[in-house]
Amino acid sequence: MKIGVLKENKSGEKRVAIIPSTVSSLTKKGYSFFIEKNAGQASNYSDNLYIEAGAKIVEKSEVFDCNIIAKVNSPIKDEINLLKENCLLISLFQTIKDIDLVKDLQKTKCSAFSLNLLPRTTLAQKMDILSSQANIAGYKAVLIGANHIGKYMPLLMTAAGTISPSRTLVIGAGVAGLQAIATAKRLGAQVEAFDVRPEVKEQVESLGAKFVEVENDSDDGVGSGGYAKETSDAYKLRQQEVMKERISKSDLVITTALIPNRPAPVLIPKEMVEGMKPGSAIMDLASENGGNCELTKPDEIVFHNDVLIDGNTNFPSTMATDASQLFSKNVQAIIEHCHGEDGFKLNKEDEIIDGMLFVENGDIRHQPTKEAI
Ligand code: NAI
Repeated sequence: MKIGVLKENKSGEKRVAIIPSTVSSLTKKGYSFFIEKNAGQASNYSDNLYIEAGAKIVEKSEVFDCNIIAKVNSPIKDEINLLKENCLLISLFQTIKDIDLVKDLQKTKCSAFSLNLLPRTTLAQKMDILSSQANIAGYKAVLIGANHIGKYMPLLMTAAGTISPSRTLVIGAGVAGLQAIATAKRLGAQVEAFDVRPEVKEQVESLGAKFVEVENDSDDGVGSGGYAKETSDAYKLRQQEVMKERISKSDLVITTALIPNRPAPVLIPKEMVEGMKPGSAIMDLASENGGNCELTKPDEIVFHNDVLIDGNTNFPSTMATDASQLFSKNVQAIIEHCHGEDGFKLNKEDEIIDGMLFVENGDIRHQPTKEAI
């Protein structure tokens, strides 16, 4: 079984899908690796490290002779056109957003996993790329955010006087949010957090942050499988009131609110930004899905009344070495999961494989993608 790794071509992307340690581990199981020249260079995995691990460095065209092709982001049209029948593409394919690419994929008669569709179950945890990368985003958003504000994060007593700690508010306490809370606490900030799911209160408090409560007499916002769902209009109004007050006192706001398969909920309208302190910053992690702040622009830093709004959509790439290591470990776990007694097989009865396999030999299997087409 031949596994190929493509070099990323998306602007600003430094990660690579498979690193040399995965090459060594899977080579022992009978896989052989064909890595596009310089694929790991931007994340500090040189061609020599891949060669030492047992891989072959090849030109891009040769990667397409492999049975499995791994990439971080969706492939571009030219790459899709080179895919051969029956090969399996593994990537963070944005099936609904990149619907034209899905149509191209149909013509190739190949199969594809979207890592975005991996079910977030206990068994799938070690394969969960969204979580490993969201964790990095939560960590890096705080570090970069701390750099944006003109303040210390911790309390500081100096001969020149006492500096009060900065106030950080985290909205959405899922994977990215909890890491943001932990990181801001470690830097010494005063941290509070809000989430529509009341069950995260305990997790927020166990990290030493204060949980901001919004009065709620029903299960508003609580969806299935540990995810949120859309809240009622009455709840939204109560939430806006509380947020307005908390945000006006914050120096750094990290927003991570997400409802699966929906655009990001807009929780910080323009007027709320106008009530913020000059010099404060919003790190909007949800920018790729439209943003939790009305003024966010994807991959741009914008200022509104001296408030900075950072819409970076790819924080993991700013930490490409570790991000690639975790990504690669997750992909390795997926390949090992598909590897049974008879070698690599796509068993569609398996919940994880069934969830990710959105195209099989050119046929779309994922219902929402089918509907989008
Ligand atoms: P998650 O699903 O683990 O957490 C999202 C949290 O938002 C959940 O706890 C949910 O209850 C909460 N939430 C939903 N609606 C809310 C509302 N109206 N008010 C308050 N909380 C609400 O998701 P994860 O993995 O932590 O990702 C968070 C966001 O970060 C996503 O939008 C994801 O796309 C983004 N992300 C951004 C990256 C970047 O570089 N900018 C990298 C990785 C992820």
